[in-house]
Amino acid sequence: MANVVVVGAQWGDEGKGKIVDWLSERADVIARFQGGHNAGHTLVIGGVVYKLSLLPSGIVRKGKMAVIGNGVVLDPWSLFSEIEKLEGQGVEIGPDNLMIAENTPLILPLHQDLDKLREEAAGASKIGTTGRGIGPAYEDKVGRRTIRVADLADEETLDSRLDRLLAHHDPLRQGLGATPIDRAELKAKLLEIAPKLLQFAQPVWKVMNDYRKAGKRILFEGAQGSLLDIDFGTYPYVTSSTTMSGMAATGTGMGPSAIGFVLGIVKAYTTRVGSGPFPTELEDADGQRLGERGHEFGTVTGRKRRCGWFDAVLVRQTCAISGVNGIALTKLDVMDGFKTIKICVGYEIDGKQYDHLPTAAALQDRVKPIYEELDGWEESTQGARSWADLPANAIKYVRRIEELIQCPVALLSTSPERDDTILVTDPFAD
Ligand code: IMP
Repeated sequence: MANVVVVGAQWGDEGKGKIVDWLSERADVIARFQGGHNAGHTLVIGGVVYKLSLLPSGIVRKGKMAVIGNGVVLDPWSLFSEIEKLEGQGVEIGPDNLMIAENTPLILPLHQDLDKLREEAAGASKIGTTGRGIGPAYEDKVGRRTIRVADLADEETLDSRLDRLLAHHDPLRQGLGATPIDRAELKAKLLEIAPKLLQFAQPVWKVMNDYRKAGKRILFEGAQGSLLDIDFGTYPYVTSSTTMSGMAATGTGMGPSAIGFVLGIVKAYTTRVGSGPFPTELEDADGQRLGERGHEFGTVTGRKRRCGWFDAVLVRQTCAISGVNGIALTKLDVMDGFKTIKICVGYEIDGKQYDHLPTAAALQDRVKPIYEELDGWEESTQGARSWADLPANAIKYVRRIEELIQCPVALLSTSPERDDTILVTDPFAD
């Protein structure tokens, strides 16, 4: 039985929510393996809109196990406010449908403080983070001073963890002009939330491996996008986690062979939130049109997304790094009505051609896209459910994308409605 990993192949916001929901109906277990509540997934099921930031999408479906893996950074207060909101919409959430890895690091208010203080101090060179404390929380994990879910079960352990953590944070805060942490207040907050959180705590690695042996279908739900990856993204304008498919294994405690089909979610054009290089960015009427037709405003922060033409160079690169077996191409309908459409097929820097984005920041800043121009289409592709419903030029556009990124389309999404999807290959099939 193939398990499926879903990753965003661009800068996030590729439309993963709908695809993950579509797949989660077929899965038994849905696991998040990286990131935190910086993600924003919108699901529309039976006309009801659910907004998720941290919880795996499968949580809204009955009879599924939702898993938060150790690769995630978890803000417990945000988790419970998300749970409360969903419960208000009639979703039942308890230990029988939500499990959290015991070794998951926590995001604390001090991480959010630091995220914001640093961004303010950076001025024009800020990353444009979501301000959720994601980066500082991952720093503390790697710095071996974080508080993990299991630490909440024992006051003595918690005390020693707090000492270690504050010995790092208080001087840091002082340097940034902030007040020291109120240790007693933080400890009291943690002890208060501990029993609520611990009811969900499990050795996730063990349960996941048992699920695998039992032949359960697992859907690994990636957040953000490949170009925000800490190693392979447009560093330093990236998030602080590994957003590539390989993280699904270590982020839940499974071996790499547990990953079956890697599905890359790819938007028919390109968007980015926050700062950093964006070779095909459009600051003209075409960019405006993409933003308006595509409703390109962030789910988490409400920020306007930067928009541009499809960049085949970048998607070919991320598909290779994540070992993408097939893509889900989303928002094709946003391209309806353009007279001509451009696709970036290569880069030129100081007269030299590149078939990939070079790593050096100075080169990235000078990248000039090489475009190929295709004829657009007048007809609407919105709601198309078969290839026969698509105009010839739309099919040509999709086929050219497949050729350039060297990866086939497995799914094609033509509207936010879950059934407006053309299925080419079932990712869950063996
Ligand atoms: P952080 O993850 O909050 O540290 O933000 C780092 C960068 O990643 C910023 O450019 C954010 O806009 C971007 N980012 C983080 N999460 C998402 C997401 O879910 N979608 C799109 N961009 C994101």
